[in-house]
Amino acid sequence: MTLLEELQSHVGSAFVLTDGDKTAFELDWRKRQQGKALYVVSPQTTQEVAMVVKSCLAHGVSIVPQGGNTGLVVGSIPDESGTQVVLSMKRMKKIRHIDASNLSLTVEAGCVLQTLQEVAQSHGLLFPLSLGSEGSCTIGGNLSTNAGGTQVLRFGNARELCLGLEVVTAQGEIWSGLSALRKDNTGYDLKDLFIGSEGTLGIITAATLKLFPAPQSTLTALASTEDLEGCIRLLKLAHEHLSAGLTGFEVMNQFSLELVRTHFPNLAPPFESSPWCVLLELSDPQDSSHAATLLENLLSAALEQGAVQDAIVSKSLAESKQLWHIRESITLAQAQEGLNIKHDISLPVSQIKSFVEHTDRALEELVEGVRLVNFGHLGDGNLHYNVQAPRGFDHKTFLTQYEDKVNEIVYQQVKSLGGSISAEHGIGSLKLKSLPNYKDAVALSLMRSIKKSLDPDNIMNPNRVIELNPS
Ligand code: FAD
Ligand code: MLT
Ligand code: ZN
Repeated sequence: MTLLEELQSHVGSAFVLTDGDKTAFELDWRKRQQGKALYVVSPQTTQEVAMVVKSCLAHGVSIVPQGGNTGLVVGSIPDESGTQVVLSMKRMKKIRHIDASNLSLTVEAGCVLQTLQEVAQSHGLLFPLSLGSEGSCTIGGNLSTNAGGTQVLRFGNARELCLGLEVVTAQGEIWSGLSALRKDNTGYDLKDLFIGSEGTLGIITAATLKLFPAPQSTLTALASTEDLEGCIRLLKLAHEHLSAGLTGFEVMNQFSLELVRTHFPNLAPPFESSPWCVLLELSDPQDSSHAATLLENLLSAALEQGAVQDAIVSKSLAESKQLWHIRESITLAQAQEGLNIKHDISLPVSQIKSFVEHTDRALEELVEGVRLVNFGHLGDGNLHYNVQAPRGFDHKTFLTQYEDKVNEIVYQQVKSLGGSISAEHGIGSLKLKSLPNYKDAVALSLMRSIKKSLDPDNIMNPNRVIELNPS
């Protein structure tokens, strides 16, 4: 049988796209690259995934797993060769089991993150992973990228929220590792190999995840500060005043909010002339009057000490959502402004100020009038330090002329301060060539050994994350 016939017999002809418009599966979210798929296959069960992998392996065809295709590093679309199969996980979206007493839930990989949050909520529980893309990204994609988001400083990233996995290996075998245990030291922790591997080691088909008691009250505040130093001082105060109640601490520079004002005028972010704003969230197991007192005390101390200039506190859930909506619209506003150079760097919080001062200066020297869209998860030491062309400069030309030079400046500075060039988005193909310059050589060699051992035929998302034979 041909590969096509085999795939059709495994999942049904209706679920193997061969021709017609496959753009949704071939174009990355940022519209930076368009690939070409041989077929797009959409299995509905783990057995079907296993059969698809076995057939692809037998025919020597590589596989690109895809969830919501919201990744930002070009890892979930096929290359341009027209020889790769896209394996879409979107039909595998069942909630298999919820165990409220164990605070855990087992779900299939194609389940959309927001659906999962809603299921937890309907049981009075919380699944805390939270991203701007939560309406379309999938839990399989979240685990494969070890996604971060806005609650990491309290709950950790996707890895820390996962208890067990079910995986189809590169040989088409099914590893049933859906343990719901919080303690299990019976050898190597295999799930941690697959989490964050961006589809290069196997296909995550289901996961058992941690749930938490839902907080009684959640309050959000927006504060304006004169500089990044003010944001960092507020972060320290927030840790002292709120301790584990601090569930979000996001910063936004003036230009990132200006982009939101320009492209989404209805959102109207306050504090128009403030150089920086902080969005902070407090979640409290007690009623909202207790949370309000905690937040008031924090903000009074911050105003008194001159860390912040002004602040507003949400008075309702709707107001809180509106503030988060502003923050979560930056990515879209930036995309509407035009192609840009994105960074997702992390540093010890103590090094952030020095990084920004030095890098801002170096980039302004490189490109006069360069516009810096700087925002992100300061509570985790993670900045989206993005670089937009000067006003009036053609965006494509800007990328062609400056992307490599800009990356070099940013990444060298990150390296010298002990940081990472990818905090939460992953490597994909966009950072594939840069990684060897900024990662320990022994770590790279171990990564290659793992890849070769788990996927000796190199059929799982090849040329993503790690190059096997770098030139
Ligand atoms: P995809 O984009 O489809 O795939 C991502 C990678 O995982 C690819 O390498 C793919 O091959 C692999 N993959 C997907 N599913 C599987 C599977 N089942 N098994 C094996 N491999 C698989 N990211 C953050 O970390 N934090 C944020 O705050 C954040 N905010 C975002 C906001 C916006 C508006 C957008 C567009 C993106 C944002 N992202 C963020 C990036 C992105 O949403 C995350 O990386 C997300 O986890 C990707 O999920 P996905 O289902 O879309 O995966
Ligand atoms: C965010 O924090 O909003 C995301 O990681 C997306 C981005 O970097 O644009
Ligand atoms: Zn982010």
